[in-house]
Parts: sequence; C-alpha cells; structure tokens
Amino acid sequence: GAMAGAVGLLSAVGMIGCRGTQSALDPAGPAAAGVLSLFWWMLGGGVLIWLAVAGLALYAIVIERPQHEPTATRWWVIGGGVVAPTVILTVLLIYGLQLIPPLVRDAPPGSLTVEVDGVRWWWRVRYLTPDGPVETANEIRLPVDEPVQFLLRSDDVIHSFWIPALGGKMDMIPGRENRLALTADRAGTFRGACAEYCGASHALMNFDVQTLPRQEFDAWLAAQRAPAVEPETELGAAGARLFLQSGCGACHAVRGTAADGGVGPDLTHLGGRRTIGAGMLPNDVEALRRWIRDVDELKPDVDMPAFDHLSEEELRAIAVYLKGLK
Ligand code: CUA
Repeated sequence: GAMAGAVGLLSAVGMIGCRGTQSALDPAGPAAAGVLSLFWWMLGGGVLIWLAVAGLALYAIVIERPQHEPTATRWWVIGGGVVAPTVILTVLLIYGLQLIPPLVRDAPPGSLTVEVDGVRWWWRVRYLTPDGPVETANEIRLPVDEPVQFLLRSDDVIHSFWIPALGGKMDMIPGRENRLALTADRAGTFRGACAEYCGASHALMNFDVQTLPRQEFDAWLAAQRAPAVEPETELGAAGARLFLQSGCGACHAVRGTAADGGVGPDLTHLGGRRTIGAGMLPNDVEALRRWIRDVDELKPDVDMPAFDHLSEEELRAIAVYLKGLK
C-alpha cells in the first residue's frame, strides 16, 4: 500500500544516477549542496503529505464507518487540510528563503572572473585576468576552494548556464549581464549544459568543467594565454596552410597565426580540450575530420559551412593540424 509506494518512490530516486559528472545529487560545492538539501527536504515533506493523504483515502475506502461522529470528520479536515499544509509549507518556505542569499552573492573582489557567452550552440569562455583576457571555448577550468565570479551573457537568444555539480543555473539573456558565483570544494571533471531551449541543437550545447589545485590551474591558464604552437609534422604544416587557404581564419582565431576571426570558437589550444563541438564528440583526428567535412550532419543548423569540397587527405591534414594545437 502506501508504505510500499513510498519505498518504491525513494529507491527510484536513488537509482537516477546519484553519481556522475552531470548530477545535482553529487554536489562538488556549497551552492550545489544547498540546492540538494532543499531538494531532500522538499521530497521528505512531499512524501509525508502523500502518506497522510493516501492513508486517509485508504481509511475512507476500506473501513466503513457509517455511524461515526461528524465532529471527528471536521477535525480531520481542519487538521489535514489547513493546519498541516500551512505548517509544512511555511517551514519549507523559510528554509528555502534562507538558502537564497549565499546563492546570489557575488564572489569577493579580486576573485577569478570568467565571462561566458552563450552562442547557438557553444560557449565562448573568457578569463578576465589583471594581465588581460584569455579566451577559450566549450571548456572551463577552475581552481578548487576559491570563489569564482561568472559573468554570463548572450548575443543571440536566451541560454542558461548550468553546472549541476557546482550549483544553481543562471539564464544568459541578450542585452544584460547576469552574475553567478560558484566555489568547487573538490577536484574533478564535471559537465555543464545549456538549460534553456535555444533551438535545433540545444541538446548538443554542453561543456567540460575541470576543477584543479591552484598550481595546476595557473599552469593551464598560462598555457592558454600563450600563442599557438607550430605544427610538429609535415602533415600538420600542410593542414595549417589549408586551414588558412580554406578561409577558416575568417571565423576562427588561432593566436600567433593569420587566423583572427571572432565569429566561431577560438581554436588556439583546441588540441588540449577533451571534447569538440561543445561536449559532443571525443577530441580526436577522426571526429575533427568529420566535423570539418559536414558539420550539419552531426549538429543541425550550426553556422559553420560544410567543407566537403576538400579531399579526404586535405580534411585529415587540417584535423591533424588542429589536434596538434595543444
Ligand atoms: Cu543554449 Cu539551450
């Protein structure tokens, strides 16, 4: 009956991936932990109310009491219909309200500041440092145990920035800048997603998040700031020439080369990213080759044109060049 139902519900919730890189049930920071505890309290409150209602319904159906006192019914209605919901909802409201201020508070001045632009369907990521901005795409790395200030923007439609393991989501709205402060309290690899429907490839708009000890983070950021490395192989060098001849540099920047486009993702250190296509495919030569040949086949409605007029060897050379941009 009611008890078996409750147990079934709880174990079903338990089975929906408590662990994982994109789980709000496995928090890696205080903001996410607050949201999770609110979730458990609301679930608990909901289960209690459901048990009471289901119990009363069973009582009414199974146990017939034609001659019972009308005053008893009145007290059930007042207690179960007015007093209990008022008390439970008030407690949940107060608990929920006191969780909000830390979630919306800015990181202290001087904190690492990361500007993220939602673009259909990828993420432009800019680290705003005292030594100037450092741009990357579809990948965010953060130092552990430090508050990070995100500045969230969009130039096209509304997107929503969400790293479930680290905290609450925040919309990215054209024409304004939303702010979100997050802290990671352990090192790990997580996944972020766009949480607002934004068109054909909304479901393919994800990103990688890695939280690192401060020293490793500093080394990574310094490497990101540096211009692109020279191709190591002849094939890579041929790919670099083809990349420029094919006009890729009109949309993509590879810092240190003639490619300085700002429309698409910055590719200066593409080879060091875990995935391509905003969390879609593993970052390897084969995936890069397919991506360049006809991106629409993989990710509908993307602005990037197909380059299927290039031969397979030419496509491969460009892919080898890009994979070498560590
Ligand atoms: Cu961007 Cu959904």
